[in-house]
Amino acid sequence: MIWLFVIFSLIFIPFGMIVFMGAPYLPAHKKAIDDALSLVKLSKNGRAIDLGCGDGKFLLAAAKKGYKCTGYEINIILFLIVKYRLLKYKNAEVKFGNFWNKDFPTGTEVVYVFLLDKFMNKLDKKMQSEAKRLNKDLTLVSYVFKIPSKKPVKKVGGVRVYEYPLK
Ligand SMILES: C[S@@+](CC[C@H](N)C(=O)[O-])C[C@H]1O[C@@H](n2cnc3c(N)ncnc32)[C@H](O)[C@@H]1O
Repeated sequence: MIWLFVIFSLIFIPFGMIVFMGAPYLPAHKKAIDDALSLVKLSKNGRAIDLGCGDGKFLLAAAKKGYKCTGYEINIILFLIVKYRLLKYKNAEVKFGNFWNKDFPTGTEVVYVFLLDKFMNKLDKKMQSEAKRLNKDLTLVSYVFKIPSKKPVKKVGGVRVYEYPLK
């Protein structure tokens, strides 16, 4: 009986508690990943990051295109799955932890997200502060959810692109 409780807790804690920190795990459709990648423009040393990378679909597709990319995942089970899936790609990495507490890595140019409405204002502020800190223009590619105070510069399917130019 105790084992059932332990197994249930191991599954519930990573998959259930996440609703308080970000979006729960729900993988984007392949079409959305293709649309998002069609909108990603990176310079030679540029990097794309996925905040809450889930099972790593975006990272894998980006890595296959030869893009440098980094994902963040707070669910230990998903983190380990993505770590394994990315083993053969030297240009891709996944980091364990809460992305709200992380600085974007050097070279970040594009940020991809599939989060929830209630986090989009907070994300807007993080994009602005990271653009300032990195002294760089940043592009946000968001699947489904909108930045309430901003107009997207492009939209393909359910994917919107927002620019954060240095002022
Ligand atoms: C809706 S899924 C999106 C997965 C993937 N980006 C995609 O588009 O298929 C959101 C993911 O973000 C992760 N996540 C949510 N909040 C997070 C946080 N604060 N730090 C790191 N990962 C987080 C969840 O565990 C979940 O796997």
